[in-house]
Amino acid sequence: MMYSEYPITDATDVIRQRRTDRRWVTQALELLTAEAGRSGWTPLIPFHAPDLREIDIYLKDESLHPTGSLKHRLARSLFTHGLCNGDIGPQTTIVEASSGSTAVSEAYFAQILGLDFIAVIPAATSREKIALIERHGGQVLMVDDPADVVRTAQKVTVQRGGHFMDQFTFASQATNWREGNIASELFHQMRREKHPVPEWIVVGAGTGGTSTSIARYARFTGLATRIAVVDPEGSAFYEGWRRNDISYVTSTPSRIEGIGRTRVERSFVPNLIDEVLPVPDAASIATMRWASRIIGRRVGASTGTNIWGTLQLVQRLGTSRRTGSIVSLICDTGDRYSSTYYNDEWLAAQNIDIAPFERTLEDFTSTGVLRAA
Ligand SMILES: Cc1ncc(COP(=O)(O)O)c(C=O)c1O
Repeated sequence: MMYSEYPITDATDVIRQRRTDRRWVTQALELLTAEAGRSGWTPLIPFHAPDLREIDIYLKDESLHPTGSLKHRLARSLFTHGLCNGDIGPQTTIVEASSGSTAVSEAYFAQILGLDFIAVIPAATSREKIALIERHGGQVLMVDDPADVVRTAQKVTVQRGGHFMDQFTFASQATNWREGNIASELFHQMRREKHPVPEWIVVGAGTGGTSTSIARYARFTGLATRIAVVDPEGSAFYEGWRRNDISYVTSTPSRIEGIGRTRVERSFVPNLIDEVLPVPDAASIATMRWASRIIGRRVGASTGTNIWGTLQLVQRLGTSRRTGSIVSLICDTGDRYSSTYYNDEWLAAQNIDIAPFERTLEDFTSTGVLRAA
């Protein structure tokens, strides 16, 4: 084709469209900044486990975000990244693969920006989370095998011509780990405590993004705090970290919603993690119920995983006669799991027996010593 024959009008349309989109992107980013201002910081609360003597435990309460979980931060970061990267415009359909919490938060942000949102989630996702996604105007697509969520989301994205958020790849890239993140908040909040620099920060890994961001921030700011990841049954993170093999895979998906993956996701960086603690599912659920009674409201199972791991590290510090603090997270509220982890019939159907761990925790309550279940 000769230069003079190029379809100038089409090109002009594209350029005009880009200019309109750019104005919309500026407004969209302003809406996200306004939302961040309204949401503010989450509180860091002391966790008064019995008889702990010299070791102070704190929980950063991420359940208090407007969408009820730590994924509120990630969703805002992924939208910000997508907007600034030119991936999201005023007509873009947003697609995500999620075990539920990220989808709830992304549905909320998509609604703020007036965008269509499709969540691809495992069929076993709690019905409370599905209701929340739909309440924020999101559309839900269920797949039987949790290992298929990413593949299905990619297909849907192509069919709909949308944008795949792909939290598992982009969580650690989209998050600003240098400032204004969960780590900068929590270290700031610890400043006036008895032991301001925590010995450990204990978190679970779904994408791995939270652990990666906190570990990067600790390195960046020269803090000696170590990062422990707690990992549920069926997850690949523990073995992947232990063998230093990011290609390690498992075949049974995690039953603790939000954490544990059958492969080592790209946002999980083994080199940054000082310790990975495997946690039995029954321990996560028993600890979730025990901790809920201490805190005075229901927390989710991954918070139980966090607190079980925290208690292991408390024991370790105690036996080496060290004092200090440990910080972990309340990841989401237990209201999302009344039909599952808080339901004894569901536990029986899953063949999960929490009784031995309940006895261990009762014993810990009276003695301050955590014996093997
Ligand atoms: C409900 C829930 N979702 C996700 C995660 C993991 O976060 P990330 O995806 O940043 O690894 C957690 C961590 O504990 C969680 O409890």
